[in-house]
Amino acid sequence: MTALAARLDTAIALAAQAGQMALRMRPPPGAAVATLKGAQDWLTEADGAVENFLSDALAAAYPQDGFQGEETGKGRAGALRWVVDPIDGTANYARGATRFCVSLGLLDEATPVLGVIVAPALGETFAARHGKGATLNGTKIQAAATTDLARAQVEVGWSLRRPNADFQSVCNKIQAAGAALRMGGSGALGLADVAAGRIDAYTELHINLWDVAAALCILAEAGAYTSAFMHPAVDTQGAPILACAPALKDPMRQITQIA
Ligand code: IPD
Repeated sequence: MTALAARLDTAIALAAQAGQMALRMRPPPGAAVATLKGAQDWLTEADGAVENFLSDALAAAYPQDGFQGEETGKGRAGALRWVVDPIDGTANYARGATRFCVSLGLLDEATPVLGVIVAPALGETFAARHGKGATLNGTKIQAAATTDLARAQVEVGWSLRRPNADFQSVCNKIQAAGAALRMGGSGALGLADVAAGRIDAYTELHINLWDVAAALCILAEAGAYTSAFMHPAVDTQGAPILACAPALKDPMRQITQIA
């Protein structure tokens, strides 16, 4: 078994355990049980607990690998680097909703080589290894064959890291092109849905590396188009993202101005 194949098995097993931990800690439906890191930027008790679990387990399994997590700020360097979002879709999770996931990506320098996204309340595991395809619950997935925005459904991610007016402008242009809009509250799951052909595009004016590290490999292996996300300061600064069915690349690039 190659080093990457072994790491994918480890990542799937650990993400499944992390997902069950998140499920056990999930607040009941009701007002959000969480603190605010900033405006509409939620943090639950589970975020830190799940990230610590994954950080410790990965350090034990692969002491030479680096680690970057969303919440704890305790990074480790390494040519191979795990990038983790312990709970993506925290705003949903904090209200007892089902649309959240654990996202575990592996980068080889700046190349995404593994991706695992586990959505425990949905019973879904997305996984991919560089050059080996992408799967959902073990079945191969592929981006949609959609060619026409008038038949497309597009998710637009939102945060207050960019002005509301810019978000609204992108939404207006997508609607003017005839596409339907969706907002699901988890960037990682929105991108995974593009890979699975369940929606035709996902775009967001700014998103962080930990939200997309796993999805980047899953999208590439599923044949989706993805904008150039990686840049020298991406670890701390994030970037805009566009991922879509391959035939929608040109019209979606024109609308979003994200290349
Ligand atoms: C957020 C979600 C959201 C996206 C934001 C992210 P979090 O991550 O993925 O859907 O629009 O950009 O920050 O806070 O749930 O880990």
